[in-house]
Amino acid sequence: MDEKNRTVNLSYNEGQNTIDLPVLEGTLGPDVVDIRNLAKTGMFTFDPGYLATASCESKITFIDGDLGLLYYRGYPIEELAEDADYLETCYLLIYGELPTREQKDEFVRIVTHHTMIHEQLAAFFKGFRRDSHPMAMMVGVTGAMSAFYQDSMDYSSKANDRMVAAYRLISKLPTIAAMCYRYTNGLPFMYPRNDLSYSANFMHMMFSTPCETYEPNPVLVKALDRILILHADHEQNASTSTVRLAGSSGANPFACVAAGIACLWGPAHGGANEAVLKMLDEIGDVAHVPAFMDGVKNKTHKLMGFGHRVYKNMDPRASIMRRTCYEVLGELGLQDDPKFKLAMALEKIALEDPYFIERKLYPNVDFYSGIVLSALGIPVSMFTAIFAMARTVGWISHWNEMISDPNQKIGRPRQLYTGAQRRDYVPIDVRK
Ligand code: CMC
Repeated sequence: MDEKNRTVNLSYNEGQNTIDLPVLEGTLGPDVVDIRNLAKTGMFTFDPGYLATASCESKITFIDGDLGLLYYRGYPIEELAEDADYLETCYLLIYGELPTREQKDEFVRIVTHHTMIHEQLAAFFKGFRRDSHPMAMMVGVTGAMSAFYQDSMDYSSKANDRMVAAYRLISKLPTIAAMCYRYTNGLPFMYPRNDLSYSANFMHMMFSTPCETYEPNPVLVKALDRILILHADHEQNASTSTVRLAGSSGANPFACVAAGIACLWGPAHGGANEAVLKMLDEIGDVAHVPAFMDGVKNKTHKLMGFGHRVYKNMDPRASIMRRTCYEVLGELGLQDDPKFKLAMALEKIALEDPYFIERKLYPNVDFYSGIVLSALGIPVSMFTAIFAMARTVGWISHWNEMISDPNQKIGRPRQLYTGAQRRDYVPIDVRK
């Protein structure tokens, strides 16, 4: 970041005191006011929900919500979704540059050879009810990995140890996600296959059985790979900020990623594509759309898959996913699928309705990704688990960036306290 000798002058105590706050300039995006010295005045800033707060400096992902831009390490998401594959994107996010052919081959080799989990971890699943939500199991089993990879790791000073953790997480999360699905359905766990690509192997672990090998359709594998690319990172969103905050205390990276998974689970974040499909089920028929929209405008419910904290324009990931949706449904001959027709009817109305236009509410990636995942045969309850698996690389890249910074401090926000003033303890017998 550059300090450009510009300051914001803040006067307080009715003008009796002033403080100059430096303005910092990034390579792209808004300037930020550096308020680190403000605490010396005895005041804090107040920004619940971080509406105007840059929580850290980062070189990984850039979003321009007004223009609808998303870059990973400077590369537009459209180009990566079209020309790269997921593991190449992972390499880019972690290391900052696209790999050479040799670097990519070696990266793919390492990831592919670490996809099995410790056999003892499989036993953890038996402790869960069969009807547990996959995200509940993912939080637990991913967190449990910290007990398996704790010794001899020096994450704060050894870059190589951090990379080993990154490889392990990227390699093993699909295995854990698929096991969640298999366990719920009483199916035997399928070991990974090293002859398949990352996405094809995930589909194999989901859908093969010991009696029958699932042969992944290349169009569907490409669609899944694209979903993973689109969800790989999204700068300082709630789950990434959670991973950073957890990691800032020096916590084990597997435990930090488990915290990220917990945060992602919420319907306002990663749970949205699941919520979109549930919403489509509830609406049921195109004829019910006007009544549903009335409810949205009366704030009885939200139109899930619409709106975004950062994008006040079309989410660039949504445009790519929309195209992918058509490709997949075309490949499977599902163009007339009633759920898809219903989604298109909602999209049309919302894009033309003043309620959405005035509030700059556009479809986000989750509006379409749920329909694609559904067409791939993935049950709704697994949608967020797949998002978690894709986002693991983003979380671990941010964690690595943070831990590598020699000036890194533990995250410790302050508050505006509005509770009781000091008061004396009242013995229980005299309390009214
Ligand atoms: N349907 C109807 N109204 C909405 C919606 C929606 N989906 N989203 C926002 N609004 C309204 C909201 O009621 C408010 O109206 P008013 O100004 O009259 O009070 C206005 O738009 C501003 O909304 P907000 O809640 O202040 O915006 P936010 O930045 O706090 O929330 C959001 C962003 C994503 C949580 C929200 O738009 C939402 O809940 N959308 C549905 C869930 C969803 O699709 N989430 C996926 C996000 S993309 C995946 C990811 O990156 O994690």
